[in-house]
Amino acid sequence: MNDQTHKTLVLTRSDMQQIVQHCGLHTIMDDLIERLISVISEFDAKQTIIPIRAGFNYTKPNTGLIEWMPMYKKGDQVVIKLVGYHPNNPDKYALPTIVSTISAYDTTTGRLCGIMDGVLLTALRTGAASAVASKYLAHPDSSTLGLIGCGAQAVTQLHAISRTFDINRVLIYDINPETMRSFEKRCAILNLDLDIIPSGLDIVVVESDILCTATSIDPGSGPLFADLRTKPHFHVNAVGSDFPGKIELPVDLLKSSFVCPDFEEQAIIEGECQQLEIKDIGPDLVEVVQNAASFAPVQQEKTVFDSTGWVLEDYVVMDLFMEHALALGLGREMEIEIMAGDAKNPYDFVKDLSPELIAEISG
Ligand SMILES: NC(=O)c1ccc[n+]([C@@H]2O[C@H](COP(=O)([O-])OP(=O)(O)OC[C@H]3O[C@@H](n4cnc5c(N)ncnc54)[C@H](O)[C@@H]3O)[C@@H](O)[C@H]2O)c1
Repeated sequence: MNDQTHKTLVLTRSDMQQIVQHCGLHTIMDDLIERLISVISEFDAKQTIIPIRAGFNYTKPNTGLIEWMPMYKKGDQVVIKLVGYHPNNPDKYALPTIVSTISAYDTTTGRLCGIMDGVLLTALRTGAASAVASKYLAHPDSSTLGLIGCGAQAVTQLHAISRTFDINRVLIYDINPETMRSFEKRCAILNLDLDIIPSGLDIVVVESDILCTATSIDPGSGPLFADLRTKPHFHVNAVGSDFPGKIELPVDLLKSSFVCPDFEEQAIIEGECQQLEIKDIGPDLVEVVQNAASFAPVQQEKTVFDSTGWVLEDYVVMDLFMEHALALGLGREMEIEIMAGDAKNPYDFVKDLSPELIAEISG
């Protein structure tokens, strides 16, 4: 997105609708999973700099946080995702728990090149990341998927995993019975030919080949379930632990599993890895993907993907949507930044006003 115009490409909800209408949800998810694998395969931490995210958290007026997740691709662009987590949003305001925007900046001049939604894009990329991790860590014959937490992220977890594995049965559990009941209807758009079965929490854990946990459990209230006798090749995508003190999995399960974080430095602060010593943490997703053959045996063992959310995933999904927008002529070019005619005079832009208005401004 490195260009020399003075405009910012803004993608709105209707642009996203048109991209989805043009491509179809399955094609978008398939492309995203493929691109994520390709970008992770080529990832070089010396060329793409990703610090751990930072932010503000608060309890008033509601419990929540706003964080910024930056990425610097040398010689190209800076991408920053802004993300808010406000778990009371669905019940209080009929808004998603995760609200977000993603923006890109040109590193030649510092200009804001593009900005777009991060709500749909976060859900898509979080699902895609779990699919990538599952492809490398879960048993290839996995057919029963478990979902604990049936909110927004669960929809794309199901979507992405069902594009990667031959899933025929989905066992679901949410602490909120209404959310559990409405899940199948929310997934109807995916037209999946599989059984979605509301179940008890323990059954979901014990009978799943792959489990995705995506809950808004409070910090200090985890884990979601006790260490149960699972299938020997049980794989978990732990999506919901992304804040200090917020955990979903029992420590004994982690200690008996091959644990692969998306981003170790962040996972030891906010993810399941908070519960582990460094020596108990396995290689990160980059190392696993880049050395797939040597890690293939772990597909027969218990494995955990500690997904705290990595901005590289946001970059990949942003790039995919930007590419479609440009190809389809979508988006609105806006002059958000004031690029005055005289680069050394920030007041220069007022010169186009009438003499009367200029006189008024000058006081
Ligand atoms: N790893 C990532 O990249 C990533 C990305 C997005 C969101 N998240 C995290 O995923 C979680 C879910 O996000 P969402 O957008 O689906 O939120 P959501 O509010 O739509 O859904 C969360 C669901 O969890 C349920 N829940 C809460 N406590 C539970 C418990 N003890 N047992 C079972 N269900 C429980 C709630 O009833 C709710 O339906 C959040 O914690 C969010 O921070 C992580």
